[in-house]
Amino acid sequence: QPAIAETVAALRAIVRGYRAAGETVALVPTMGALHEGHLQLVREGRKRADRAIATIFVNPTQFGPNEDFARYPRDRDGDLAKLASAGASAVFLPTVETMYPSGFATTVSVAGLTEGLCGAYRPGHFAGVATVVTKLLMQALPDVALFGEKDYQQLQVIKRFVRDLDIPVEIHGVPTIREADGLALSSRNAYLTPAERAVAPLLHALLDEIAAKLQAGQDAAPLLEAGMGRLGEAGFGPVQYLAFVDADTLEPMGRADRPGRLLVAAYLGKTRLIDNIAVPPR
Ligand code: PAJ
Repeated sequence: QPAIAETVAALRAIVRGYRAAGETVALVPTMGALHEGHLQLVREGRKRADRAIATIFVNPTQFGPNEDFARYPRDRDGDLAKLASAGASAVFLPTVETMYPSGFATTVSVAGLTEGLCGAYRPGHFAGVATVVTKLLMQALPDVALFGEKDYQQLQVIKRFVRDLDIPVEIHGVPTIREADGLALSSRNAYLTPAERAVAPLLHALLDEIAAKLQAGQDAAPLLEAGMGRLGEAGFGPVQYLAFVDADTLEPMGRADRPGRLLVAAYLGKTRLIDNIAVPPR
């Protein structure tokens, strides 16, 4: 079983013990309800450092007032067993009071990168993510921290503030783990009805199809418009965005003339799904 820390002091004592033994540390921040995607981050962490520490904290400040904070899936015992099997040596399980004691008044916000895509539909979301991830990095002071490409905009935002604030940690992005039919693993997939679950893989299939056409030299705009239509016909809606952007700056791109990323966010019933894939230049 991994060691459990519920306070910052306990987490720091665990890290101090590893450091004293000359060991390096990888940090894997999560909100729990763990699946193979999260466990892959832990395994990658174990390759890049001697110890992997997972954090489980459903961060209230990154959820909007009408989002799923209250009903976000929670499974502490199941999560601890999975983390043990993936090779995590410790787990940090802070309370809301530990992370946000009364009087808490500081926010980390990243301009530019957070304005489009999910940022346009989830005001305050990335400030919530950036603030909590900054705290977790400062609390643990790991050598490396791992994040999934599944949340591609989040990964870019984290890389940016880590660079801007000179936080001494290497950020490592891990490719998305998928079901056999292409659906990206997500804790929110548990919300899907069987009928919705059957439709959901279209999201990834469509990204693959559009990426192939972009790489064949077609213009993005008509492909994206047709793609939005396809999603609507299949039962997705609202489709928040289907976008082709520069892989680093997230600025819209017209054709595949430099490294790009194709991203989508759409509701399927009550569940908001996101996915993205790389589009290398032609
Ligand atoms: P959560 O959604 O629990 O995801 C934790 C980490 O797992 C993130 O880095 C996410 O990108 C990664 N992940 C999720 N699904 C994945 C998949 N199918 N394949 C690979 N990696 C996947 O993202 C968050 O939590 C929070 O915003 C957090 C960073 C913990 C801050 O609160």
